[in-house]
Amino acid sequence: KILILDFGSQVTQLIARRVRELNIYCEIHPYNSKKYNFDNFKAVILSGSPHSVRGENPPKVDLSAVKGKKPLLGICYGAQYLAHFYGGEVGSSNTREYGRANLSYINNESPLFKGIDAGSQVWMSHSDTILSLPDNYKCIASTHDVANAAYEIEGEQTYAIQFHPEVYHSVDGTKLLENFLVHIAGVAQEWTPDNFVDATVAEIKEKVGNDKVVLGLSGGVDSTVAAVLLNKAIGENLYCVFVNNGLLRKDEFSSVLKQYEGMGLNVKGVDASQQFYNELKGLSDPEAKRKAIGKVFIDVFDQEANLIEDVKWLAQGTIYPDVIESVSADGGPSATIKSHHNVGGLPDFMKLKIVEPLRMIFKDEVRRAGAAMGIDKNLLGRHPFPGPGLAIRILGDITPEKVAMLQEVDAIFINGLREHGLYDKVWQAGAILLPVQSVGVMGDERTYEKAVALRAVESTDGMTADWVNLPYEFLQKVSNDIINKVKGVNRVVYDISSKPPATIEWE
Ligand code: XMP
Repeated sequence: KILILDFGSQVTQLIARRVRELNIYCEIHPYNSKKYNFDNFKAVILSGSPHSVRGENPPKVDLSAVKGKKPLLGICYGAQYLAHFYGGEVGSSNTREYGRANLSYINNESPLFKGIDAGSQVWMSHSDTILSLPDNYKCIASTHDVANAAYEIEGEQTYAIQFHPEVYHSVDGTKLLENFLVHIAGVAQEWTPDNFVDATVAEIKEKVGNDKVVLGLSGGVDSTVAAVLLNKAIGENLYCVFVNNGLLRKDEFSSVLKQYEGMGLNVKGVDASQQFYNELKGLSDPEAKRKAIGKVFIDVFDQEANLIEDVKWLAQGTIYPDVIESVSADGGPSATIKSHHNVGGLPDFMKLKIVEPLRMIFKDEVRRAGAAMGIDKNLLGRHPFPGPGLAIRILGDITPEKVAMLQEVDAIFINGLREHGLYDKVWQAGAILLPVQSVGVMGDERTYEKAVALRAVESTDGMTADWVNLPYEFLQKVSNDIINKVKGVNRVVYDISSKPPATIEWE
């Protein structure tokens, strides 16, 4: 496996994505973490950084176990680092280079550039530049503005590049990483979904043995794939619990339960809708609603877990982006780990050991692992749905009547997207019940009823998003259907806000 040492660049995660696309397993660790050991890795990549090697406190790391001993690739800050601290000179560049550039010179004898031709477009993002290289370093590529755009060290398997091969705009970036990892470092490309499944199943068996494991299913992709992996490993010792919080989509509880049955999972459906409604009664503040839902979920889940005699483990569908400790931009050792908000962070009193089979993989890898195990394509392609469900799509207080109304609206919208072949083009979609009433006319009657908003966004990770340009004819049909079929709704609007500054959910 490959180690990516993170010096705090915004795009370090992308390096990992590119490496894994080559079917090579890698891990990201902060440069100042105590948790990695160079001995366990076949090659090392140094990431970029918001810092300058000439700054007051540049991030530093002891590379004596690596440099000259293992294949080593420095990217951006990593390249400047390997020059500056080993006898070269880094200074501020006359022209700051941000964005596209072309490699005007390439040394094709260098194995790093095998199969890459001069002129290749790369992505630069730096204000420092390498002015001179130490003696045994050899420049192997330049751009118009940057003489030392890439170098190698004679007698070592050390390479460095000023540009970012990991970003999409570096056209031959993946090829370059392949040259380094496969041809120079000799790493085998064995990280496939099938191998991941086999290795993870073996790991779970080893870790959990004959113990019982409880897992909270949500109907979503992550918890489902986690459940199927565990089921493969420990079979009937896996106890899944699917809680109906009364805030799911229309008919979702029964249809998802049925689907799980067909997959051979041992699932207990627990309908706790009333408990959730009771706790939510009269609450309008979004965070108060989230808290109430989290609390009831823990109560219900704890109660169910207690019914399983001698259960020792709690399984969770946590994925890699939730786990990666990245170096914060100020360079401090502050490690931010997001809490797994679907579960709301289970309390210590449950005294269960944790098993998280997906904690080292990204969302698209979860989907591929799921496909490799034969999980239904429709299930794997489901839109994300928030843990608090429709409670954060009903602005204001929650009543069972409002939930039922919104479920109808949502079902017409989502089914419409499916029927028109739009569902898979949208990253997430849903309907929002607004706390306003407006005047309308139906037949000869004046109406004074509710308004709903439709939201459909495209995104890659939910961090940023843009509204989807759905066809007018589609919106027209859905709007008609909703107003004609859902009693109490007489107005439909479409949300055309991007994130930021808006968010995907309204609460
Ligand atoms: P926002 O509204 O923050 O949403 O732009 C980003 C993504 O996160 C989901 N979301 C949640 N998921 N618990 C969850 O499990 C929550 O409290 C929550 N709030 C938002 C949202 O659906 C979108 O995919």
